Amino acid sequence: MKRRIKLFLNLKSLVVASILASAVVLLQVESFVFLKCPTCQTTSVSHLKAIKNRYTDQNRKHTSREKRNQLHRVIQSIEHYGKGEGQNIQDKASDELLETLIMLSNAKTQREVSFVGRKLDSLNIMNKESLPIQERVLKATALAGIFSTSLNILHDMLDASYLPSKIAYTAVCSALRKAGRNEQLEELMYDLAEISRKKEEFVDVFAWNIFLASICSSVEHPGDKILTRVWKWMDPFVAKEQFCVKPDLFSYNTLLHAAARVGNQTLVESVWKDMAQQTEFQPDIRAYNSRMMVKSLSERLQILDEIERNPNVSPDKYTIDLVIYALVQEGRLEDVENLLNDFVSSNSAKVIGDAFSAFFITLVQSDNVASARAIFDTYMCEESKYFCVTPNTRHFNILIDGYRRLAEATSTRIKLDGELTNNMQKEPSCDKTVALAEGRKLYRIMRKRGVRQDPYTLSSMMGLCTSTSELINVIKESESEITPAVIRSVITQCGSLGDPSLACRFFDKYARDSKNIRVWNVLLGALSEGAKQDDIVLDLNAAPSLEEEGRNPSMSDIALMIDGHKCSEAAIILLNIMNSVSKKVMAPYPNSQSFCLAASALQYGFTDADVAVDLFRNATYAGIPSDGRFINAVFRCFGDDIDAALTSWKGEIRLSCLEHESRTRRAPVSIHRSRNKNLVAAYNGLLYVCGRALRPDVAVRLAYAMNKEGLEPNNVSLNSYRSGKRVREDRLAKETNEEKKAGRMWSRLIPKPNMVEQYESLLFVECTKYDPRIKRMSKDKKVRIIL
Ligand SMILES: *[C@@H]1O[C@H](CO)[C@@H](O)[C@H](O)[C@H]1NC(C)=O
Ligand SMILES: *[C@@H]1O[C@H](CO)[C@@H](O)[C@H](O)[C@H]1NC(C)=O
Ligand SMILES: *[C@@H]1O[C@H](CO)[C@@H](O)[C@H](O)[C@H]1NC(C)=O
Repeated sequence: MKRRIKLFLNLKSLVVASILASAVVLLQVESFVFLKCPTCQTTSVSHLKAIKNRYTDQNRKHTSREKRNQLHRVIQSIEHYGKGEGQNIQDKASDELLETLIMLSNAKTQREVSFVGRKLDSLNIMNKESLPIQERVLKATALAGIFSTSLNILHDMLDASYLPSKIAYTAVCSALRKAGRNEQLEELMYDLAEISRKKEEFVDVFAWNIFLASICSSVEHPGDKILTRVWKWMDPFVAKEQFCVKPDLFSYNTLLHAAARVGNQTLVESVWKDMAQQTEFQPDIRAYNSRMMVKSLSERLQILDEIERNPNVSPDKYTIDLVIYALVQEGRLEDVENLLNDFVSSNSAKVIGDAFSAFFITLVQSDNVASARAIFDTYMCEESKYFCVTPNTRHFNILIDGYRRLAEATSTRIKLDGELTNNMQKEPSCDKTVALAEGRKLYRIMRKRGVRQDPYTLSSMMGLCTSTSELINVIKESESEITPAVIRSVITQCGSLGDPSLACRFFDKYARDSKNIRVWNVLLGALSEGAKQDDIVLDLNAAPSLEEEGRNPSMSDIALMIDGHKCSEAAIILLNIMNSVSKKVMAPYPNSQSFCLAASALQYGFTDADVAVDLFRNATYAGIPSDGRFINAVFRCFGDDIDAALTSWKGEIRLSCLEHESRTRRAPVSIHRSRNKNLVAAYNGLLYVCGRALRPDVAVRLAYAMNKEGLEPNNVSLNSYRSGKRVREDRLAKETNEEKKAGRMWSRLIPKPNMVEQYESLLFVECTKYDPRIKRMSKDKKVRIIL
């Protein structure tokens, strides 16, 4: 008891300390998610996904080895059949069959396996071999994945009214399930039911459950018809009538889990009630977990109380994973600690390690890295008295990446705030500092303990760097392999730290000879980022050299070709290097993304209609599709030259867009919906130019034109105009007097100020009339006015 209380205090104080440090952040981070941050959100989530996927890959390898061993065992048992006790020597397998099966056990490729399958089909097993041998062959072919052969044998048996052993037909069922052959599986279930009924036996519920699991795994949405069907089958009478089977707890759980997975709460409740009425079996922890999945956080805690009152069930790792966030939110840390203590004391080290990874991911994904850290410090820190779980690479990776996400989220919030309130100071907040410091501290612990680092560790650590010198150090010190993904992270990180020159150096050192388009695009992205930050001039001499001394610069160094240029120019140079036919450098040809990135670099630099049209033509020549994203980026390069933009639109760009669309005319509906998306994105690019030129009159005309084409201008259209206008105002503020005088020549085209306002409110109406949310808002306004 004493130990518990101490541990509780320990855990509590840690959580409280770290929560206090970041409580403010967490609140704001949540609201920030609704604003937007396309880049950081996607990178973070995909990073965690990658950590998860790698893990499942390892498991898959394991199961295929397991399957192979099983197959060997079955084949051995056929070889030895007839020699064992109680086995009839006449039932021995024929030599021909044995030979073929040995081929099967040696087969390595899918082709070899299917060859053996055809051979087996020709052996007339049904008539030549004894039933015990047939059953074993059935199992072997099912394991090897030769469905047609095993189904043939099984159907021959069923046709002859012979019911094979449960083990044999279950093997066929699970093979069909693994191959996703649901229809064949369902047919088989009906056939088995028919024969079993004649024999007055029940079909093995285990085989039926395999069938249920198989069809339930294809359920995709809450209203799925499969759910309705399966629920009907749960009725004992229906199950007996149709499948000659008695549903068991596992059957119910399968349905329950499928309904919970797609979030059909009503069905979960109904199935749960049905189960509760069954006297034969009572809900187990799996059933409770499924029920929790469709509940809100506070309802989950009520279910947890139910579980604790029920002496027959105890929480498992899934239960803990489902409630841990809710408990932390409620401040019920003692309960977290009790759950974890019980869990730790009754499971193997491997299970505990995996479960803790899952808990960490859950907490980190709900922006609660502080609590994950507190659990780490309590159970996984050697200095802690309660140390009992040895942390591995994955645990460290999840936590370090959690801090990286936190730091990234905080700095994005600052950026957004800065934009909203203009000119606010952009100092790193104390929350960000805490996140950075904690992430680095964890990394030091990892190194000190000698836990192996992998590329994910390195990528996350680079995300925690706030300066390029730190970045260089992290890479120098790391023991991890430098994978292509790591290189891409480095280059991206240099870009966002505002040092495109260093990005270029890294590129030359690690990726210059790479023919992988992704790393080239990442460099273009870093240049585009540099263009955004006042179009930095590249200065390769100022960037720290990464080479060991003695290396002569090579002629194919990208650095040599773009040194001294502005980022926007450098992006075009790089694009041309990639696009050139007579290649000095073995670069990959640019793809759609390359052109998009170059276009977005260009829009921040010296913008000019000729360059924009050039870029568009070069892209068309290179076979790049005129999709909305690219055309939008191209228009943004027109600067404030709305006349040129309109001319190109009417003259060539529009045509090319429509051509791109007609390519997909015969495609499914989903693509037609994207047709409109593409055209709307192109128009939105034009609206941006209108904003830059302060020509709301043209913008309104464009909105009408969109309507005529059956397109709906939306809030993004409106924002495009507004962001163009904002850029205009920023640039005017920076202009010198002479530039202003030159600009006045154009100003006669701009509508008078009061007209600007009128056109803009027209534009507002056009862009919001299809938006139900805004409509509701404006109705509210009207009501208020009438009152
Ligand atoms: C949940 O499943 C039931 C039975 O299949 C179905 O009647 C109901 O419409 C589903 N609920 C939702 C929200 O789709
Ligand atoms: C278009 O291609 C030409 C010839 O390859 C090149 O000189 C020019 O810089 C390219 N323009 C742009 C904007 O990419
Ligand atoms: C535009 O409106 C949609 C819903 O109509 C909303 O989800 C989206 O966040 C809005 N976008 C912007 C930039 O306001």
